[in-house]
Amino acid sequence: MIKWVDVYKAFGEKKVLDGFTLDVHEGEAVVIIGYSGAGKSVAIKHVVGLLEPDRGTVEVDDNDVPTLPRKELYELRAHIGYVFQFAALFDSMTIGDNVAMGLRKRGEMSESDIAHRVAEALELVDLPDVQHQYPAELSGGMRKRVGIARAVALRPKYILYDEPTTGLDPVTSAVIDELMIRMREKLGVTSVVITHDMRSAYRVGSRIAMLYDGRVRQVGTVEEIQHTKDPIVRQFIEGRATLEGDAASLAAPGPAFESGATARGGGAE
Ligand SMILES: Nc1ncnc2c1ncn2[C@@H]1O[C@H](COP(=O)(O)OP(=O)(O)O)[C@@H](O)[C@H]1O
Ligand SMILES: [Mg+2]
Repeated sequence: MIKWVDVYKAFGEKKVLDGFTLDVHEGEAVVIIGYSGAGKSVAIKHVVGLLEPDRGTVEVDDNDVPTLPRKELYELRAHIGYVFQFAALFDSMTIGDNVAMGLRKRGEMSESDIAHRVAEALELVDLPDVQHQYPAELSGGMRKRVGIARAVALRPKYILYDEPTTGLDPVTSAVIDELMIRMREKLGVTSVVITHDMRSAYRVGSRIAMLYDGRVRQVGTVEEIQHTKDPIVRQFIEGRATLEGDAASLAAPGPAFESGATARGGGAE
């Protein structure tokens, strides 16, 4: 289980997390939605100890992440796959070497076992034939799949996906969604998925949590979120530029409308 309890995190004067509380249970895929800059990436970086909370606790399987000694933190990280927002592949390395990297770093497996595991991971993301190619030779969607293969090769208990479909076309996004569902159903991976793509959220989420103003505004099943009465959540999931009932600002596209649209309507980063 991954558990944030009342987490506060500020960078200088800027409060990002302000009482963030959320649980992710075994076998679930919890989707975190929210505007660009809301703090979604900041929240998941706490799970692997890349950031430490100013206040509150972050637990993974009953380990208090911020207080873990370095060695235990590395052991914990070995069970958590992290698919970064930008595929973050090494351009000078082949796809096979990129996927093998984490396993080599761990230093527990023979090269032949690693080769086997890499082939298996690439097979799982439907890219069996790209081992000897370089990242630049692949499309954006394929690179994302390699990023997922790299996480999966470690046979993690958890995978954290940071905006896995941002910037992809709808068909490629659907492929990535299918892969995330497959990892959960076939491998039993528990996942946290950050996205502002609602189609993707509805497909992969067992539950959806909206991060707003530093905390979870609402968390619920897909059905519950789709039927929410919370105007802030409604506005986000419907992708509207103004709050419900705020017809005046729609009718008069003055500065109020423009600032609303740019501050909140932001889609891609
Ligand atoms: N290491 C950092 N140092 C300073 N500010 C940061 C750092 N990481 C994130 N922030 C700020 O925290 C806010 C939330 O960022 P982030 O979690 O990346 O948003 P998003 O919800 O889009 O993932 C942003 O204003 C960002 O600039
Ligand atoms: Mg982010």
